[in-house]
Amino acid sequence: MILLTGATGKTGGETAKALAARGVKARALVRDPAKAGALQAAGIEIVVGDVTDAASVRRALAGVERLLVLLPNSQRQVELEKQLVDLARESGVRHVVKMSSMEAVADARTPIPQGHWAVEEYIRASGLAWTMVKPNFFMQNFLASAKSIRENGSFALPMGNGTTAMADARDIGAATAEVLAGRGHEGRSYEITGPELLTFHQVAERFTEVLGRPVRYIPADPAAYLEILKRVLNEWHATAVSGLFREIADGVTPHLTDTLRRLVGREPIALAQFIRDHAAVFR
Ligand SMILES: NC(=O)c1ccc[n+]([C@@H]2O[C@H](COP(=O)([O-])OP(=O)(O)OC[C@H]3O[C@@H](n4cnc5c(N)ncnc54)[C@H](OP(=O)(O)O)[C@@H]3O)[C@@H](O)[C@H]2O)c1
Repeated sequence: MILLTGATGKTGGETAKALAARGVKARALVRDPAKAGALQAAGIEIVVGDVTDAASVRRALAGVERLLVLLPNSQRQVELEKQLVDLARESGVRHVVKMSSMEAVADARTPIPQGHWAVEEYIRASGLAWTMVKPNFFMQNFLASAKSIRENGSFALPMGNGTTAMADARDIGAATAEVLAGRGHEGRSYEITGPELLTFHQVAERFTEVLGRPVRYIPADPAAYLEILKRVLNEWHATAVSGLFREIADGVTPHLTDTLRRLVGREPIALAQFIRDHAAVFR
């Protein structure tokens, strides 16, 4: 049995869908069963629980061999993910798959990738079989800018002239499903990118082409953007996200990988396709 955490979220949801489409049995630990209708309809077994509640995690882990560790960024992410790994080992899980990020490296300079790296190291030292899934920036992040794209024909982000190798969450889910259900992925780290290296000006060009009307990228001042983030996120989270964005703005150009083709046997989804598939929310 495979246990998924984060299955009501973006990449966890796509992982669940991809497993269900392959006819693989899987269980999801969810906080709110009202959000699990689509998962249940797809044949995923639902266990209600919370990763902050060890007893509920133990119940969900009964009979589980493979675990997807996927939590959102928070000040407690590292502690909670380590606890999940400990509980998994106690209950006899064989293989832990961790949703990390491509920026998570030994000398990461900001809290989110540093936290992912710390959990990766903890898992590698755990004695359990492991696989790290390390995606680049999610295309789905642009859904947060949909209102601005729709109403103002622009989106503002503090990425300067930085470049990403952004990936669609559907591809990340398909790759993660293969890691969980396939063979031979133990001891591997998989960097997942889309098919193109793009600056955010080039992202705006893709929106313009697909939507058939001008969309502009407005490079935001990092300090001003941090204040905007603080209106919706707590101090730690706003500062951590802002640090990550600064790394993209200042960072070296990431590389493209052929991981998706190797794992799933097809090319990754391009940004233009992502925009076409979500045109209703961007128009
Ligand atoms: N965004 C990016 O560009 C990017 C790039 C690379 C890596 N990543 C990494 O990807 C991860 C986030 O993935 P995502 O965007 O797919 O996640 P997401 O959409 O934010 O979903 C988070 C999931 O975690 C669940 N969750 C939160 N707290 C929980 C708790 N206490 N107990 C049980 N479940 C809990 C949520 O459940 P509810 O539905 O109940 O809230 C939801 O299912 C992060 O670790 C991030 O660093 C992100």
